[in-house]
Amino acid sequence: MRIRWWPRSIRWQLLASLLALELLSIGLFAVLLVRQQTQETASRAHTRLAYEATSLALQASEALQQQKPGWIGLSVKMMGDSPTVALAKVTDASGNVLFISKGDADQAKLERVELKQIERMKRSAPGCFTLSGDRWECTDAIYTGNALRGFAWVTYDKFWMHVQIDSILRSTAIFGVIWVMASAILVLVIGRSIAQPLSVLHRGAAALMNAPEDVSHFPLPVMVHNEIGDLIETFNRMVASLAEQRAGLNDTLSLLDSMLANAPIGLAFVDRNYRFVRVNQIFADLTGVAITRHLGRTLQDLLPENVAPAMEGAVQRVFANDEPVRNLELNGEGRNPRRPLTWLISAYPVRTTPTQVRWAGVITLDASDRKRSEEALRRSEKLAVTGRLAASIAHEINNPLEAITNLLFLLRNFSELGEGAQQYVAMAEYEVRRIAEITQQTLRFYRQPTQPARTTLSELLDSVLSLYQGRINSLDLRVERDYEPDLTLFCFAGEIRQVFANLVGNAIDASTAGGRLLVRARRSRNWKQPAQEGIRFAVADTGAGMRPEIREHIFEAFFTTKEVTGTGLGLWVSHEIILKHHGLVRVRSRTAGQTHGSAAVGMGTVFEVFIPDDPNFFAKPGNAAEPQAGATATA
Ligand SMILES: Nc1ncnc2c1ncn2[C@@H]1O[C@H](COP(=O)(O)OP(=O)(O)OP(=O)(O)O)[C@@H](O)[C@H]1O
Ligand SMILES: [Mg+2]
Repeated sequence: MRIRWWPRSIRWQLLASLLALELLSIGLFAVLLVRQQTQETASRAHTRLAYEATSLALQASEALQQQKPGWIGLSVKMMGDSPTVALAKVTDASGNVLFISKGDADQAKLERVELKQIERMKRSAPGCFTLSGDRWECTDAIYTGNALRGFAWVTYDKFWMHVQIDSILRSTAIFGVIWVMASAILVLVIGRSIAQPLSVLHRGAAALMNAPEDVSHFPLPVMVHNEIGDLIETFNRMVASLAEQRAGLNDTLSLLDSMLANAPIGLAFVDRNYRFVRVNQIFADLTGVAITRHLGRTLQDLLPENVAPAMEGAVQRVFANDEPVRNLELNGEGRNPRRPLTWLISAYPVRTTPTQVRWAGVITLDASDRKRSEEALRRSEKLAVTGRLAASIAHEINNPLEAITNLLFLLRNFSELGEGAQQYVAMAEYEVRRIAEITQQTLRFYRQPTQPARTTLSELLDSVLSLYQGRINSLDLRVERDYEPDLTLFCFAGEIRQVFANLVGNAIDASTAGGRLLVRARRSRNWKQPAQEGIRFAVADTGAGMRPEIREHIFEAFFTTKEVTGTGLGLWVSHEIILKHHGLVRVRSRTAGQTHGSAAVGMGTVFEVFIPDDPNFFAKPGNAAEPQAGATATA
């Protein structure tokens, strides 16, 4: 563990630096002061001591000259009482103590150092020296005339020097403590005024980093009016402008998000590795994979096999040329193999900087339905043209047919005609009648009344069956017509004919050779609302039947199992017509797989249609818009 010896807060750092600096300088100052004071005091003490020794020597010499040696003792005593003098004494020239300020003179003896001084003093001026125990002493010779009579000795009391230095040190210490305390308080106050706003700023910045959306802590309080205060103010302004920018950005993002989510086209963004970065719901519907599962997966991973390379090519061109690719038609096989898909795509570069293309945006439009409806439209247009042609041919055939009929009539009455020839004429007449009937039916089929009218159903259903007579014959189907000749229905005859043409057409398509085809029409009641009267129809075949998963979709536009020949519009149109007539339709069907026991028994399909026979439905304008019926499919 690392020991942190240096404080982390500005306040304590300032305080610590200041204390260190001040203690160092005060210490240094004290040392220098003590040294200087010691030297000065010492030199002063020496001077004084020398003076005192000389003064004692003079007093002693005076006393000797006055013949009053007793005075010397007095002078020694007085000198000894002086506060800076520790000891004063007078000796004779050989160093025997005669007078001493403290103690007994007889007992006192000079030290070896002092004895050495006697030798020196005999030759030169008064001198000072250091005694054992770090004491200072000065001595001077006592003369009367030229005769050396003795020496005066004065020892310095060092206690005084210590007292002086102690007092200086004490004053310095008191001053130092006051100085350090005052400056510490000052530093704490200044440190606080720097550290507090800085820590407010720090907390604000940290809060902004943790929750950039939350600006409730702002503006930060500006508690000082200096550079730090200015910094906080600038920070507050910066946060406010950031919040404004973020709000603007959020608005733009929500706008873009809502566009992405609600645009009625597939939108996808792809990076250079053909990986999805983002897609919208419509695009996810196209790929059949959840939006979230697109992220990071490639076009190859998620798009239909034959579409992915083409889309990759478009994206690659966008990155290579930095230009959009527009209206590219991609055709392929979708999830449902029976419904080929057609996508119209445009790809464009998405730049995050003016020079760098970061992603490619791909706009995808599912044009499969449009393509199929165009195809169906083309086919139905062809049928319509063929129909009109058939009608006009039928019309044109009528005139020569009438002529032939008349001629045959005349021929039959020819007397020379043998019996065999008569028979041939009768056969010819029969066939010509059939031709006439076919032309009549054809003409009726294409003559579409624009108003609803009471229609004889036997005629209508006969015309439908005769239209398919050729296929019925070739499949050798047994047709059962179960309807009264005078049964009528108030309806749009052309449209109802179309319904049965389609139901019978489908039944024949599903039938195999030798099968049965039942067409029934009866006056009856609505199976959902028994109060309602009308006509109940049935078209039943003994054909292949439908599996439930097919039966579910048969009323959808473009749903067909007849790859090439079917448009998948027949039942869809029929259902619309039935709804327009406020009718109902239901289906029962059974396939080979569903029949138990011997195959083909009970196989087939029954379409039941109910159309109410009520002219009021068409009289009331509001009614046609809200059909009360629907389709049901039952097994
Ligand atoms: N009687 C039936 N028996 C078996 N399958 C049927 C029968 N009637 C309809 N279907 C199924 O329903 C599908 C849809 O029929 P619909 O009449 O709408 O279209 P289509 O017959 O395929 O084409 P179109 O009628 O436009 O030429 C058919 O493709 C067929 O699979
Ligand atoms: Mg059909």
